[in-house]
Amino acid sequence: MDKLRIHGPCRLEGTLRASGAKNASLPALAACLLTDGEVVLHHVPRVRDIVTMGKLLGHLGVEREEDPVADGGEPGALRLRANGNGSAPDEAPYELVKTMRAGVLTLGPLLARRGHARVSLPGGCAIGVRPVDQHLAGLEALGAEVDIDHGYIHASCEHLPGRRLQGARFRFGTRTVTGTENVLMAAVLARGTSVLENCACEPEIGDLVALLRSMGARIDDDGAGTLTVEGTDSLHGAEHRVIPDRIEAGTYLVGAVMTRGDVTVVGTRPADLAPLLEKLREVGADVTTRDGDGADDEGSIRVRHDGEIGARDLVTAPHPGFPTDLQAQYMALMTQASGAATVSETVFENRFQHVPELGRMGADIRIVRANYARVRGPSPLSGATVMATDLRASACLVLAGLVASGETLVDRIYHLDRGYERMESKLQRLGARVERTSNGSTAS
Ligand code: EPZ
Repeated sequence: MDKLRIHGPCRLEGTLRASGAKNASLPALAACLLTDGEVVLHHVPRVRDIVTMGKLLGHLGVEREEDPVADGGEPGALRLRANGNGSAPDEAPYELVKTMRAGVLTLGPLLARRGHARVSLPGGCAIGVRPVDQHLAGLEALGAEVDIDHGYIHASCEHLPGRRLQGARFRFGTRTVTGTENVLMAAVLARGTSVLENCACEPEIGDLVALLRSMGARIDDDGAGTLTVEGTDSLHGAEHRVIPDRIEAGTYLVGAVMTRGDVTVVGTRPADLAPLLEKLREVGADVTTRDGDGADDEGSIRVRHDGEIGARDLVTAPHPGFPTDLQAQYMALMTQASGAATVSETVFENRFQHVPELGRMGADIRIVRANYARVRGPSPLSGATVMATDLRASACLVLAGLVASGETLVDRIYHLDRGYERMESKLQRLGARVERTSNGSTAS
């Protein structure tokens, strides 16, 4: 099992390019099930979750090709074509969905395109129960019959006229990112108009809307959580470049402040990170941004910091609030702040598993009540062997290792590999002494 060995303290300095967004790529990959045409996706990061989704799509009869790596080192385009002859299996098996919950995103497209689907219930994970009741309620609103048996969701619209979902008005009971994506991908092929209210507004939703429009879908987005969809009989292939990964970029920018460094992330969209950048300015960092002028130049963000870090409270919230996926990283930052700061996690019910691991490194964090912690700093951290429990907790521990004195060994970094492309090489290029070890031997 791979580990990351980090020698601290260090200072991050330099420039890195953001990878494509994992959480925009996953729905984009699922969207290929909506058409027989070829869907070409650029800027998809080569991380474990993408590999798992690719295997799942292959199981569902999707042919995949991968272009060679581009000149700048960007992964080659993915070329996907779902075979429409109906011979492919229409079941997303537990073995593939359990390791990557986003496999549930195949439900909406399969149902809309083939009239039926069997998808394993994704089950919970380290950060929470992760129910999908809103996904299912939305599909039922479109006329689907949904049953759950033996751990699988079985959805069908074969009882409807033309074996086709019917447009409807549906209001999500809670803002859900993949729930919005699943129901939206079903609605685009429904007969008639759908009005989806209280939708998630994360940038990744906007990217999926852009892709679906380029495939011929008719979607109006009011930018405030209502999506109006005119269903079409079919969609065609398209070519699309997924947006940069705001959570990856944000992780490195937090590291710049923690290590009193100077990091510029290029190929990123500053507007997507507005809540984080506002926080980093509040704690005293010098943040400068440049908006891009188009598809090939998304823009850049530079964060520099020296001296004290201000202690500022945090409350996570759905977009445009502060993203829950940067909460653990921010908590690591607050261990180095001068004073006490509270961190309130409002999106997931169990997203403080990084707290005991940070405590083992010397952080002073007290969980006052469920999902509400107080961090006192600055605490001198010392290197330790720590264990990652989920993707973003892993990133938090790596950041802590960068400022800790001595050696930190982060175990179970397969969590990291799910969502961070070549993290150790990106950190090395920023001056960190980090290496990946596999069963004790140091990997390249
Ligand atoms: C997406 O997960 C992201 N994953 C998560 O990123 C991210 O943390 C999360 O959105 C919130 O931004 C992908 O996009 C692949 P939700 P998702 O449905 O869609 C409750 C990462 O680290 N809920 O928006 O599964 C749910 O329990 C991952 O990259 C229901 O109650 O999250 C949670 O409390 C982690 N019923 C809240 O809504 C439902 O049917 C938000 O969950 C669905 C969700």
